[in-house]
Amino acid sequence: MIKDIEYKYRKLINIFVLFFYKILRTFYKNNNSELKLIILKNRKTLSEAHSLLSENQYAENNYGIPGNVFLSINKPIDSFPTYSDIFIFISRYLNKPINYLEIGVSVLKNYIQMNESLQNSNLTCFDINPIAPNSLFIFNENNKRENSNENIFTGYNNENENVLSYYKGNVLDREETGVFRNAHNSKFNFIFSDALHEHDAVITEYKNIIKGNLDEEFILYFDDLDFPGLENTINLIYSDIKKEYKDVFCTTFYINGWVGQHEKLHKNALISTIDFYEVMKKEKIKLPFIRRWI
Ligand SMILES: C[S@@+](CC[C@H](N)C(=O)[O-])C[C@H]1O[C@@H](n2cnc3c(N)ncnc32)[C@H](O)[C@@H]1O
Repeated sequence: MIKDIEYKYRKLINIFVLFFYKILRTFYKNNNSELKLIILKNRKTLSEAHSLLSENQYAENNYGIPGNVFLSINKPIDSFPTYSDIFIFISRYLNKPINYLEIGVSVLKNYIQMNESLQNSNLTCFDINPIAPNSLFIFNENNKRENSNENIFTGYNNENENVLSYYKGNVLDREETGVFRNAHNSKFNFIFSDALHEHDAVITEYKNIIKGNLDEEFILYFDDLDFPGLENTINLIYSDIKKEYKDVFCTTFYINGWVGQHEKLHKNALISTIDFYEVMKKEKIKLPFIRRWI
């Protein structure tokens, strides 16, 4: 009985929270035509992917998806920008071909959108899980290249000429991240950190995978700064990067995550050698509470 009341209470609170965010989003209309096209394409990619993970598959391996998020993982999302939309938009500012690393890919929801919109790019995944079952349309035997390590998949997407790689490993494990670093010896110019969202883990991930692995011009993107203590963690990482790079900027804002409007807005940070605070202003990209750190 008490459990039932608690459940209904939490559900009601969630409805109010989502309603609050829905109202907030209406104050931020984006008319940038490039961004609008990217959003259309991404929604099409997701609708064509159908089910990213079924209930039975979720029962076997939850791919790091919390229960409430899983309920919405396959639901259509509206036109308010998600981080996936912004990634494709900002990657146009990099002067070299994209060498992208996503740490924590789960069922590849963001990754398939990147693969669909980018061309001639290196797109690398790092995750503790095996490749998600329904993403085999990207990673399959037909596009696989020979590899002696069973935890590494390398393939090729003929349509967009992207090189696709998947490393199965734990970001907290020095040996496994060492194998990854040895196997992948070019520097990344775009890294999305989305595996673990707590201080010690993010610092370890930074030391094991990110530090020393960024190109001279780069984008380093963090999700979920609203997790306890994480804003401070990202500030420490930003300070460390500033010691190495002369011109580096950090912009934070709120944006939709991987299930769009079905969840609250996420606080994200974008550390880059490009001043994206100015870029967003110039391009009239409107995101809640955007600000630049000093
Ligand atoms: C939030 S999900 C990633 C969502 C994905 N970036 C997207 O936008 O579609 C986090 C992923 O990180 C993985 N993960 C959690 N701990 C990890 C670890 N120690 N090492 C590597 N991956 C980990 C989870 O299993 C899950 O697949």
